[in-house]
Amino acid sequence: NKEVIPLTEIPNFQSRAEEFFPIDWYKEMLHHNPVYFHEKTKTWNVFKYEDVKRVLSNYEFFSSEGPRTTIFVGANNKQEKTSPLTNLTNVDPPRHRKGRSLLAAAFTPRSLKNWEPRIQQIATELVEDIQENSTVNIVESLASPLPSLVIADLFGVPIQDRNQFKNWVDILFQPYDKENLDEIELQKQMAAKEYFEYLYPIVVQRRLNLSDDIISDLIQAEVDGERFTDEQIVQTTMLLLGAGVETTSHAIANTFYSLLYDDKSLYGELRNDLELVPKAVEEMLRYRFHISRRDRTVKQDNHLLGIELKKGDVVIAWMSACNMDENMFDDPFSIDIHRSNNKKHLTFGNGPHFCLGAPLARLEIKIALEAFIQKFSHIEPLEGFELENNLTSSATGQSLTSLPMKVFK
Ligand code: HEM
Repeated sequence: NKEVIPLTEIPNFQSRAEEFFPIDWYKEMLHHNPVYFHEKTKTWNVFKYEDVKRVLSNYEFFSSEGPRTTIFVGANNKQEKTSPLTNLTNVDPPRHRKGRSLLAAAFTPRSLKNWEPRIQQIATELVEDIQENSTVNIVESLASPLPSLVIADLFGVPIQDRNQFKNWVDILFQPYDKENLDEIELQKQMAAKEYFEYLYPIVVQRRLNLSDDIISDLIQAEVDGERFTDEQIVQTTMLLLGAGVETTSHAIANTFYSLLYDDKSLYGELRNDLELVPKAVEEMLRYRFHISRRDRTVKQDNHLLGIELKKGDVVIAWMSACNMDENMFDDPFSIDIHRSNNKKHLTFGNGPHFCLGAPLARLEIKIALEAFIQKFSHIEPLEGFELENNLTSSATGQSLTSLPMKVFK
């Protein structure tokens, strides 16, 4: 059984809002404690860009096979017989390679081209449903539904089942909350069972009738003569849901937050020139995305971080913090969508585990923004909005539960 390290104890934040945007803490750590041992959790913590990159990518010394800093949110956390093929994030190379290559077959540039119009359609429909000159909760109407509807479409889930599909995803990946542990666990188990019973026959059917979707790609993928079984394909879809839905929702919601509260001229700039949207997406991933951090376990004694690390020590790489390292980014604590090195942020990780879904995530955020910006001439914050009351601890950190704003044609 994997130990879970309570990450939020490390910074000792005083409020949800502080955890949502912890740049004062990052500044302090980057300047005064860039390699920091936290007594209570017995973890090493690194914040500098080069250190974070080294910890994430140097798998000979820093292994993905140890404890975890975030609670596993899927329902199959009993992990009966996890195969390295479907449990990618927890295995090191060389064992990692086969599963990664099998899954990568579904994430080729060609797939991405095919997906674009489908994502476009889903985003456009969601944006069309938003009334002009009204107040809208953008989390509910765009940020939250888009990624799960997209992934359902890319899996090839029939349209009439998409809402049910989103329900399962919402239940499966809702965070545990200490007070309702048993109840949530039960709900998750039920949802997992229903999800499996729903998807498994779809996979079996699809084998006889291949189509243009991720499940068909996974059925056909072959590496060294090995292929996924039907059951492994269902497990792999779970991995994709866990990795790709909440993260992308978070990025979209936070982008709108930033447009409303960080730099009010940015919305107009983007509307004048939609070609700037991809740059804005990168800067938002760097500046407004604070749930990116991963742990690794030291595999061999070493001095790679300038201190003595022993086999078995746990090191936490704070990617969102390293995105604010002055040695990498000029004036890192402010937003600038025109940075020349805007894609250098480590929000998607680095090395062999670099996010397989990064191109898809980027595309979804870009399309969501474009669809929205084309329809609305400007947006305004809602008076009286209190950030603190509209956050919740998600599986990975603080996320917006609602973000009301006024939208104008
Ligand atoms: C891995 C971030 C969206 C699929 C990762 C990792 C990070 C990350 C940091 C590396 C974990 C590690 O090194 O241990 C993000 C962010 C996203 C996002 C910030 C959105 C803004 C997606 C999407 C998908 C996806 C949309 C697919 C549907 C994966 C997979 C892995 C992964 C399969 C495991 C790769 C491996 O271990 O080899 N992601 N992700 N992600 N991500 Fe994403």
